[in-house]
Amino acid sequence: MEKILEIENLGIRFKHSSGTTTALEDISIGLEKGEILGIVGESGSGKTVTAHAVLNLIDTPPGIIDSGKIIFHGEDLLKSGLKTLQTVRGKKIAIIFQELMNSLNPVFCIGQQLIDVIRNYRNCTKSEAYKRSLALLKNVGIPDPVCRMTQYPNQLSGGLRQRLIIAMAIAAEPEIIIADEPTTALDVTIQAQILRLFQNLSKDPGCSIILITHNLGIMAKICKRVVIMFSGLVMEKISVNKLLNSASHPYTLELLNSSRGKISLNENKEKKSDLLGCKYFNRCSQALGKCKTNKPGLFHLDSDHEVRCFLFEKESR
Ligand SMILES: Nc1ncnc2c1ncn2[C@@H]1O[C@H](COP(=O)(O)OP(=O)(O)OP(=O)(O)O)[C@@H](O)[C@H]1O
Ligand SMILES: [Mg+2]
Repeated sequence: MEKILEIENLGIRFKHSSGTTTALEDISIGLEKGEILGIVGESGSGKTVTAHAVLNLIDTPPGIIDSGKIIFHGEDLLKSGLKTLQTVRGKKIAIIFQELMNSLNPVFCIGQQLIDVIRNYRNCTKSEAYKRSLALLKNVGIPDPVCRMTQYPNQLSGGLRQRLIIAMAIAAEPEIIIADEPTTALDVTIQAQILRLFQNLSKDPGCSIILITHNLGIMAKICKRVVIMFSGLVMEKISVNKLLNSASHPYTLELLNSSRGKISLNENKEKKSDLLGCKYFNRCSQALGKCKTNKPGLFHLDSDHEVRCFLFEKESR
């Protein structure tokens, strides 16, 4: 399968007053054309940092990029100049930010903002952009789009605002959409509608999507593959059709077992500074002696399955 994006060996730390914290360690994730790839993991596992790094949005300082490449159309975005990044950001790779507050301009009406975004990306008349704006609002399930076009962002409910942001992100017909918890604030019906929209975008025009969520249920519904992150590391990569029966990492099993696929927040449970070996050691019920002192690599169990756990060392190919 053709890879549209490759995150290779990405390592990122953040500086603070008493030293540095590792946010990502040797993250490698490939995204295939037209696939929906899920990234799941508890709070603080590094999902958002990964998403921001793809568009070279990590501020340095406080961030330190220790290693890695982000390969998009043969170019390393971590080395690209502002000019390239400006043509990539939003146009070729769109990101729906987890923190939505700053994504909309409060002083322009919704129609104006959408029309501006569309005309910024493609050569078209105002009336064509207006028509396309209406279609986009309809697509994301915003009722009465003609009226909504004349309103301002603060006149929309949180759910409608979220859908408007999704409409803006897809307005440019990007090749890749990175959606960071895009449906968390939405009720179940709207959530389903947005997920269907992502599914349709991945089929036609073949948009590739990285979907970040806490919710394994959502993953299982629309993703082809899932990457499970814990404490800045990829713990498992697995195709969704294997997830229920063949997921291997004890952390993935913990996620699957937690109620209705929701992950409880377990931050700070482990004493990170004491860990020499596996980062999951303190929470793992199946830990071996060497897990305390040795760091497991990612073992390849199959072409669509990798796991960072010594329990599977012998099965690796
Ligand atoms: N600007 C920053 N400065 C310092 N530390 C940061 C910064 N951004 C992220 N971090 C740290 O990097 C780690 C990963 O954070 P990240 O936001 O990627 O987690 P996440 O998986 O997206 O969590 P959540 O599910 O809560 O959104 C955390 O330990 C976080 O505190
Ligand atoms: Mg996040």
